[in-house]
Amino acid sequence: MPLIVSFVSQKGGVGKSTLARALAAVGATGKLKVKLADLDIQQQTSVRWGKARKQRGTASPIDVGAFRSFDDALADSEAFDLIIVDTPGHTSPSTGTVARASHMVVVPTSATIDDLYPTVLLLRALEEIGIPQSRLAVALCRVLEPSEEKVARNYVAAAGYELLPGFIPERASYRNAQNRGQALTETIDGTENESADALIESLLRKIAGQSDRTRNWSGD
Ligand SMILES: Nc1ncnc2c1ncn2[C@@H]1O[C@H](COP(=O)(O)OP(=O)(O)OP(=O)(O)O)[C@@H](O)[C@H]1O
Ligand SMILES: [Mg+2]
Repeated sequence: MPLIVSFVSQKGGVGKSTLARALAAVGATGKLKVKLADLDIQQQTSVRWGKARKQRGTASPIDVGAFRSFDDALADSEAFDLIIVDTPGHTSPSTGTVARASHMVVVPTSATIDDLYPTVLLLRALEEIGIPQSRLAVALCRVLEPSEEKVARNYVAAAGYELLPGFIPERASYRNAQNRGQALTETIDGTENESADALIESLLRKIAGQSDRTRNWSGD
């Protein structure tokens, strides 16, 4: 059974598609068979990025597609090692369906209270429907200056949750890379690549910490 990692948020523009693409790129580079399922039929951010990536002829292939439903996204997926689900910029009843089926649910957030507040609301809602904290990863993205990290960590800790170690700064190099079909870990700036690698590694460590339990998750 493939590992399922989903990216969800109540608010748009927090970095779901950005982190989903970075995880896909890292997974594919690590020789995993990766499917990146874009559930945002209107924007298709990940799908358009996948086309740009294919045109570049990037070595590690990622299977990117748009799907109207989570069930559609899962169809014919047995051959994949990792299914990454990029959801639209709002929650809906299907958010619960996706979250329940995911081995890890990633909630990206910026460091503003405007974004942190709905992030905590969503984390609580996910816990209420039975997703344990061990399957919730909160990722700090779009950080403008280092002092923002402390504010965000304190806010999330006060709410009883924990941010993943590391963060993604807000940088033009990331935008330019994504415009070209590359991921956060593939920019022309080595320092930015390292920041992105560090956060994705934190996420992978959290996922690995779950691996013993994954066999029992399919039906819960
Ligand atoms: N660290 C960053 N530095 C610079 N630009 C970024 C960064 N992260 C994301 N962006 C840009 O911010 C915008 C929003 O990011 P992204 O599309 O990943 O968010 P999203 O949560 O998927 O949005 P939506 O809810 O609309 O699907 C995009 O234009 C993206 O290229
Ligand atoms: Mg998106």
